[in-house]
Order: sequence, then structure tokens, then C-alpha cells
Amino acid sequence: MKILILYFSAVGATKEVAKRMAKYFTNHEVDCYSIEEPFCQDLSSYDALIVGTPVHHAEPAKLLMKVIDELPVQTRKIPTFVFNTKGLAACHTNRILAKQLLSKNLITVYEADYVAPASDGALILPQMKRFFRFEKGIEAKIAQDCTAFLALVASLKEEVVVKLPPFRFSSVMNAPNKFGSGFVTLNIRVHRDACTKCGLCISRCPYDAIHSDEAGYPMITKSSCTNCYRCIHHCPTRALGLWKKKHLKVLAY
Ligand SMILES: Cc1cc2nc3c(=O)[nH]c(=O)nc-3n(C[C@H](O)[C@H](O)[C@H](O)COP(=O)(O)O)c2cc1C
Repeated sequence: MKILILYFSAVGATKEVAKRMAKYFTNHEVDCYSIEEPFCQDLSSYDALIVGTPVHHAEPAKLLMKVIDELPVQTRKIPTFVFNTKGLAACHTNRILAKQLLSKNLITVYEADYVAPASDGALILPQMKRFFRFEKGIEAKIAQDCTAFLALVASLKEEVVVKLPPFRFSSVMNAPNKFGSGFVTLNIRVHRDACTKCGLCISRCPYDAIHSDEAGYPMITKSSCTNCYRCIHHCPTRALGLWKKKHLKVLAY
């Protein structure tokens, strides 16, 4: 079987899961790409597709949705496994992603959530150890999900029928949080005393939201920034953060 794994990872957790999946399919031909890398837009040579996203405010990452939106409609239906990595609650992330994929003939037949280090929670509540680790037994869960997906694909007859991830009650509970996050976004601060002007935050920003100011320090364009926090977690000198004080701990992969 020829399998394509496509993912977006702002900080690193979704990439970890995607790579572990790729390793799992040793007896198959597997391509594993971040959507930030070039990949062939015609997916018709693949027998199965896996798509992964972090949960950002109870939705898939914006960049992934944009990339899928720009994909051509595939000439044949491809059975697809959608997964997310989440800090707490994924709500309708997989459902939204599956609907978007469906419009491109990429048919979701399997879904999974994986609890991962919380790229927002780790910055806001660093005392919660729980926000710095993957769920227990994730390796086994990934293996189980990959086996189940492969078995499902192998059993499919001519017609690939979509299995949309169901409505989740957690999305109702999360509605006030989601509504509020549309209005309140934390500004990303630059600690000039720690910044070495290395430019890593600029080159790695997935949304091209960081440029240098006249003095060479990073300057964040709020209208382009989605607060994915890659810049904060990937800064080698912890020169970016949410608070006046520097973060003592950030996520490292
Ligand atoms: C802006 C932002 C919003 C987030 N919103 C949610 C959320 O609504 N629910 C949740 O469970 N996790 C949420 N998270 C946590 C991430 O989904 C989680 O840490 C994910 O594993 C990050 O994946 P990545 O490391 O591949 O970027 C959010 C993280 C960020 C940065």
C-alpha cells in the first residue's frame, strides 16, 4: 500500500505523532510531509492518506485549512485518517477537517485525538506538568489506530463511504472559551536583552508574521499572527514570550 502522511505542526507535537506513524508502516511505502514542504498536489497515486493538525481554539490550524482549500479535487476517492494533537479538548477539530477534505474527494473513514504537550497551556500555566507531556501509552495507541485504519482500507470495496467524526458535546461546553479567544489574544513580547537577532523566529514563522525592525529585533505583525507560539517555543534564548518576565520553561522537541 502507498500511504501519504500530511501534517501541520506549529511547535512539534503533531510532527512527532506523524513521524511515529511513518515508522509504524514499515511494510508499506510511506511519504511523510509537513504542509510547509513542497509535495505533489495530485494525490491519486496514494492508496491512503493520513492528515494531522494541532487543535487551535477548537479548530484545525488555519494554514492546514488553507492548503487543503487550495488542493485540486482528486480524481478518485482516497480513504483518509484524520488526527489531531490537543492540550485538553479537540471539540470539532476532526469534524471540521474531515468536511474540508471531503470537498477534495479525500474521504475520512477513521479519526483519532492524541493528548500532547499543550503549546498554549505550557506558557500560561507552566506549573502544570501535565501540559508538558504526551498522554500515557501514546505509542501503543498510535500503533492500534494505524493497524485499524489499514484493516479498514484493505476491507473497502469499490465505494469509499465517508464516516464523519460525530458531533461532540464538548464543543457546546467549549463555546464560551472559543468565543472569547476571538477577542482576547495575548501579545507576543520581545525581550531585547536576551535576543541575539538570529532570525530563527522570522524564518520559522508559518504565517510570515515576523520581520525585523530597524535595529534587527523581531517585530510581530498582529494581524498576520495566529498565536501558534512556534516563535516562543523555538527561540534558542527564550527571548520571546507572553509576559514581562521571561518564560522559565518552554516546550522542546
Ligand atoms: C493558539 C492555540 C490554541 C489552542 N487551542 C486548543 C484548544 O482549543 N483545545 C486543545 O485541546 N488544545 C489547544 N491548544 C493546544 C494544542 O492543540 C496542542 O498543544 C498541540 O499538541 C500543539 O501541536 P503542535 O506542537 O504540533 O503545534 C492550543 C494551542 C495554541 C497555541
